[in-house]
Amino acid sequence: MKKTARAHTNIALIKYWGKADAKLRLPLMSSLSMTLDAFYTDTSIEESENMEFYLNDKKQDEVATKRVFKYIDTLQHKFGVSGNLTIHSTNHVPTAAGLASSSSAFAALAGAFTRFYDLNVDNQELSRLARIGSGSASRSIFGGFAIWQKGHDDESSYAYALDEHPNMDLYLLAVELNSHKKKISSTMGMKDAQSSPFFESWLKRNDFELSEMIDAIKNNNFTKLGEIAELNASEMHAINLTAQPGFTYFEPDTIHAIKLVEDLRKRGIECYYTIDAGPNIKILTQLRNIKEIKKIFESEFNNVNIIKASFGPGISYLD
Ligand code: ADP
Ligand code: DP6
Ligand code: CO
Repeated sequence: MKKTARAHTNIALIKYWGKADAKLRLPLMSSLSMTLDAFYTDTSIEESENMEFYLNDKKQDEVATKRVFKYIDTLQHKFGVSGNLTIHSTNHVPTAAGLASSSSAFAALAGAFTRFYDLNVDNQELSRLARIGSGSASRSIFGGFAIWQKGHDDESSYAYALDEHPNMDLYLLAVELNSHKKKISSTMGMKDAQSSPFFESWLKRNDFELSEMIDAIKNNNFTKLGEIAELNASEMHAINLTAQPGFTYFEPDTIHAIKLVEDLRKRGIECYYTIDAGPNIKILTQLRNIKEIKKIFESEFNNVNIIKASFGPGISYLD
């Protein structure tokens, strides 16, 4: 008996970057994301002799394997179920490159687990379970725009759909400058960032920026959405730079790409950037500008891979 779930990757427009509880992955702020059609993870679970984990058909290093097994162990305890499992996962998204692979990964894993054991959970509970695997995964249970409300405990910290089928002219161009595995995982990065003298200011801005973003979405205001998303991402990277000791996910090409976005904007091609825990940038834009932006980025960077994404669906089950 094999059970497979598919979850789409999400990119936060208002970022989660700081934890109140590392074990339960309770965040210090609420976040808001866009689930993408172009990137997703398929994960299947079946019974077996030993615990095994394959990602893209390959056995993984100890760190990745441990994280998955520990997660399965936590869920098995929670639901009073047991048994060895073989887990096969396929990422249709670069792994650990700042393109939020953990969001679709742990949403798909939580989904496959609950189906495998025939557990009757609704999507709110599934979001909580996904959250324990990777915070951002709480939002990948839902399509369109999703909000992860920070809550204050396991029960109250989950995501919900703000609008699963937005009628908005909004595209995200994922600019893959470098898809190597990053050196600092998101888990480590957000832990270190809490030593920044600006960390409190970062937290204080969350309520305001989140409500401005919700406003922008409800009023179909692309300019406002882009401006807030860009500011929010820059704030997150500013606290990394000012952590003690400071660090950054940026590489020279990241800065080059930021400047290109700024230049394009000056020339009337409206676009904004957002950046996660990796060197790659994501451009937020509208349909009429996609061709021109792609052309310019392709001429500025050698071998750059630009993937166009729009709104993707929530979790689904393949068998
Ligand atoms: P990203 O920016 O890609 O989300 P993270 O540091 O948050 O980077 O998470 C990357 C880690 O998530 C990987 O090192 C691995 O442990 C885990 N991961 C990624 N994809 C999968 C998958 N399909 N199944 C299980 N774990 C995964
Ligand atoms: C920058 O969800 O990957 O992408 O909970 O430790 O697994 P863990 O972290 P993760 O962090 C995501 C950070 C981010 C912003 C976001 O997706 O909100
Ligand atoms: Co992640």
